[in-house]
Amino acid sequence: MDYHEGFLEDVISGLSQPLKKLSSMYFYDEKGDKIFQEIMRLEEYYLPEAELEILKAQAAELVEGFDHDFFDVVELGAGDGSKTVYFLERLKVLGKNFIYCPLDISPDVLETNASLMKSRLPDLKVKPVPGDYFKTLSTIDRGIPKIILFMGSNIGNYSNGAAVDFLKKIKSAMQVGDRLLVGIDLKKNPKTILRAYNDCKGVTRRFNMNLLERINRELGANFDLANFDHYPTYDPLTGTAYSFLVSMKKQIVRIGSHSFDFKDGEVIHTEVSQKYDLEQIEKMGQQSGFGSVRHFMDGRGYFSVSAFE
Ligand code: AVI
Repeated sequence: MDYHEGFLEDVISGLSQPLKKLSSMYFYDEKGDKIFQEIMRLEEYYLPEAELEILKAQAAELVEGFDHDFFDVVELGAGDGSKTVYFLERLKVLGKNFIYCPLDISPDVLETNASLMKSRLPDLKVKPVPGDYFKTLSTIDRGIPKIILFMGSNIGNYSNGAAVDFLKKIKSAMQVGDRLLVGIDLKKNPKTILRAYNDCKGVTRRFNMNLLERINRELGANFDLANFDHYPTYDPLTGTAYSFLVSMKKQIVRIGSHSFDFKDGEVIHTEVSQKYDLEQIEKMGQQSGFGSVRHFMDGRGYFSVSAFE
């Protein structure tokens, strides 16, 4: 099955459920990638700034005790490397000797990443690995000590059980003494969290709505965007931020030979962005078989880069 067929199949199956849903992994087409870059620059979307503060100010602490003459820094879903480069610069200042292996599904983004590294760290050896990082992670040399990075609170886009399964899979690719650094958004004032997904310029709204536009573009559907709205919500009891698309009227949408009835006010669930507290992160570490978890937080206590060993 090619990517297009997989997309069609997932969309048809998600919209056929009693509670309609679409996977957030389909946000990231070329247009979605660009809108996500805009989100990252929003004042309300505090996550990148908080994470960068930690990577810049606590790089030495993040690698403390990881005393190897030579090691790999493997980044899962590395993207353009624009935040990681600050961390790597600091490791170089600390005299560390390592190869950077960015893993990403997009070969284009890996090219951007490699050229950024070349301009900022000309002596750094970069080994980009395109492909699904679960498949490519197992091809990375096991004999070399490793620091694995999974940044950007991407772990939050897995539901709770799926996050533990994800950590277990990474652990199975690690050797004793390797270190996993995970960027995790923390529970905080619910209003601060909700604002991050409901920015006043409507960028997150465009990001969510682009999913319907993409289905129109790629699968020939006839979603009328004027009849749908973006609805983000945050439940402080569970720490889950949800995004929905709401049908603003009773309507029928067609995708090829399939048709889907929408009631007025019916929602499509599009995304989970889970927020954690430190105890929950430690519990996830235990459940996935890690022996220790340490946390490195920004000054406001908004975000943690947690070290799993
Ligand atoms: C990629 N991921 C961690 C983002 C998040 O915060 O869940 C995606 C995002 N969705 C809306 N805004 C940003």
